[in-house]
Amino acid sequence: MDENIVWHNYAVDKTQRSKLKGHKPCILWFTGFSGSGKSTVANALEHALQEQGIHTYLLDGDNVRHGLCKDLGFSDEDRVENIRRVGELSKLMVDAGLMVLTAFISPFQAERDMVRSLVQSDEFIEVYLDTPLEVCEQRDPKGLYKKARAGEIKHFTGIDSTYEPPINPEICLNTAEQSLAESVQQLINYLESKNIIG
Ligand code: ADX
Repeated sequence: MDENIVWHNYAVDKTQRSKLKGHKPCILWFTGFSGSGKSTVANALEHALQEQGIHTYLLDGDNVRHGLCKDLGFSDEDRVENIRRVGELSKLMVDAGLMVLTAFISPFQAERDMVRSLVQSDEFIEVYLDTPLEVCEQRDPKGLYKKARAGEIKHFTGIDSTYEPPINPEICLNTAEQSLAESVQQLINYLESKNIIG
């Protein structure tokens, strides 16, 4: 970084913005295979939180890769850069007082830990979608596993690209065994138990 660039502190800070909103800001970081249910659960949770007057923002891989990250592909290097950008963006949104929901495969522990280190320890909640690969592949909502098996897509997570399951996630959801409503309730219970909402 250029040594001539100095951080500027402003009069209005995160605490004041958070007070205005009436809830704490945080990042709910959903990680798991494609088809594991990240976007589906995040979407349903966001809907439930909206009804409680919580200011949220949902970032997901498929959408962010149409804009902010449209120059990136799926090599390990590009995935690292994808998560770095989304991490920095999420940090700014936390500073703005928002509850950020992110739905990215985010296959590497090191990058998830890197994002965790960007915010306060109680502001990063790692949510592992522990849905078995076989179930994700059977669902194949976008037909991508089929293409990956046929060799039409290279470096597909779970087929020929690595996924490192979280070592110590705050929350574990197995969407093959629990309903969408149960997953949403589990997340809301967690947020309440930590006094983030409610
Ligand atoms: S990440 O690995 O960099 O975190 P991200 O969540 O942004 O991935 O994007 C994953 C989405 O891109 C998948 O849900 C899928 O729809 C699509 N996709 C396209 N090619 C691949 C690939 N090679 N591996 C994984 N997902 C892919």
